Amino acid sequence: MKRLIGKKLFAGFLGAVMIVASAFPAVSAETLDFSPAVAYNAGEAEGEVIYSTGFENGEGISDFSGRGGVEVLEASSEKVFSGDSAMCVSGREESWNGPQFRIDEICEPGEEYLVSVAAKSEWYSTLNLSMEYTDSEGVRHYSNLKSAQGDAWAEFTDVKVSFTSDQTNVYVYVESSDTKCKLYLDDFSLKKAVVMPIEEDLASLKDVYNGYFKIGTAITPSDLSSKSFMKLVNKHFSGSITVGNEMKPDSVLNQSASIAYAEANGGDDTNPQVSFSAAKSVLNYCSENKIPVRIHTLVWHSQTPDWFFKEGYSNDGEWVSKDKMLKRMENYIKNYFEVLLKEYPDIDFYACDVVNEAWTDQGTPRDAGSNNVRNGQSAWVQVFGDNSFIESAFTYARKYAPKGCKLYYNDYNEYMPQKTAAIVEMAELLKEKGLIDGIGMQSHLDVRSGSDAFPSVAAYKKALAAFAETGLDVQITELDATISGSSDANLETQAQYYSDILDAIVEYKDSISAVVLWGITDDRSWRADQYPLLFNADFTAKPAFYKIIDGVEPIETTDSTEPSTDPTDPVMKGDINISGTISLTDIVLLKKFLVGMDALKPTLLEALPQTGDMNDDGVINVFDLILLKREYNNWITPPASQA
Ligand code: XIL
Repeated sequence: MKRLIGKKLFAGFLGAVMIVASAFPAVSAETLDFSPAVAYNAGEAEGEVIYSTGFENGEGISDFSGRGGVEVLEASSEKVFSGDSAMCVSGREESWNGPQFRIDEICEPGEEYLVSVAAKSEWYSTLNLSMEYTDSEGVRHYSNLKSAQGDAWAEFTDVKVSFTSDQTNVYVYVESSDTKCKLYLDDFSLKKAVVMPIEEDLASLKDVYNGYFKIGTAITPSDLSSKSFMKLVNKHFSGSITVGNEMKPDSVLNQSASIAYAEANGGDDTNPQVSFSAAKSVLNYCSENKIPVRIHTLVWHSQTPDWFFKEGYSNDGEWVSKDKMLKRMENYIKNYFEVLLKEYPDIDFYACDVVNEAWTDQGTPRDAGSNNVRNGQSAWVQVFGDNSFIESAFTYARKYAPKGCKLYYNDYNEYMPQKTAAIVEMAELLKEKGLIDGIGMQSHLDVRSGSDAFPSVAAYKKALAAFAETGLDVQITELDATISGSSDANLETQAQYYSDILDAIVEYKDSISAVVLWGITDDRSWRADQYPLLFNADFTAKPAFYKIIDGVEPIETTDSTEPSTDPTDPVMKGDINISGTISLTDIVLLKKFLVGMDALKPTLLEALPQTGDMNDDGVINVFDLILLKREYNNWITPPASQA
């Protein structure tokens, strides 16, 4: 069976119905027996098939094309998954050659679809079901959706695909790691995903932790097309959004524009050009929903193109000198913030990972070289010779970042003792120079059997303590915790581990401003096969979710608990939380401080001699509290002359 019901067909059919309908008002689509249009209407509904073919009698083959233009696509009974016929693709000359099917002409942007296909390669190879689109600047992007290995039929079932309104020429395709082997496809279908309900009556995670720290998550453009997923974002994680991949150097740096700039400017190849087109849909979502954004990340050895470090921005040029790279770095960071703020003036970019993963687990700089050649090597170390690029990056970030954007160093395995020590030492030096505001603990954790979790809760706590001790802010930036299978026992062990880790985080809450999960549902995680997150693929909460909301003491908050973001602002007497106003929160905080109930954040503690010593007698005691209450009353009841 094959049904292709494109918009053009549908439009044509609608016209026909209108003409027919005006002459014969009682005629319906069913009585016209025009099955494609009936199926098109059905395909608009959730879960319904929009297109399907089993390639019987060659049906549907002409709806596919060869990616390389050299492939021969034909019906074949040589190998079939079902029925009498499959599509055979021969004549491939490159590994990326294979059959492609265009979806943006029959699917809607911003909606989620499911692709299923059986695929087989002639002999053993890796088969990839992938997707391609062209962005608004004409750049083509490719992403792997699912892979399989071997020479047996691989069944790709209900693989999620979607695209945004600024993406065109969207294809799903099958390719094979082996250049020459034939490919076979059978039973290809495309259907609209069903919108599943979410559990509306659950407590909201971000509300449970309100007053402790922001709760956020990372999302990528394809997440936007899942309505249920976005409902979870909105309900539980809208305290902070990190763009999962699309604000990293390889997404932002624009090679052709950088080369064009150099050509137009007398060969000046020190001004790399940037574009946020890949992140656009997520950033628009954050702007429309007023969600604060964590910028991730400016300077990293990974997900960064080699041409950025090469003469003439060429992929295989010589490494540039340190001097030239410093100029490139400054201009890149300058352009990054300038373009971002110009395009998204309404977004609160409140935090930025200036440098990511610069220290090894042994607390040493990475090996010099390209990460694209050998995983783990750093082109920054290649050009600078050491980790001195870190301070340069922070210097430029401080110079060009907006006022309210706090600057972080971010890393994983941050609880490995030598790594913790290296990060603390670096952070203290940067702090002395006023260049850093915080440390990001990625927190990609591994539950294992619980008793041998990596890290142990005690080791994690030790790192938290060391980072808090620096007096800098700490953010948990990419939290997830893997298990090796989703048995009930594993899920329970994971729940206990998550809960213990959150208890440790709560213990240091005064030093921690945000806890960001690296995704929401397991199936969309970068470690999907290890079930690391708080929600199942069907959007229901896992035991870990219930365990971490259990027993969290509500904190009394007012709407102005955020400290001032400008360290140079003079602090006001009585404004204990440095919010710019005097409120009940200041009274509560001072009271708690005096009875030893609550440790103030290091920044607030540092300012306490100015903010809390109301009578300037050099001690902070109950008399200051009385004066603060008086001051508060003055604030809410202005003197008669002003009223
Ligand atoms: C991961 C993304 O989630 C993946 O989609 C991508 O393939 C690789 O990068 N540390 C980081 C994140 O700082 O940027 C990484 O994100 C996960 C590890």
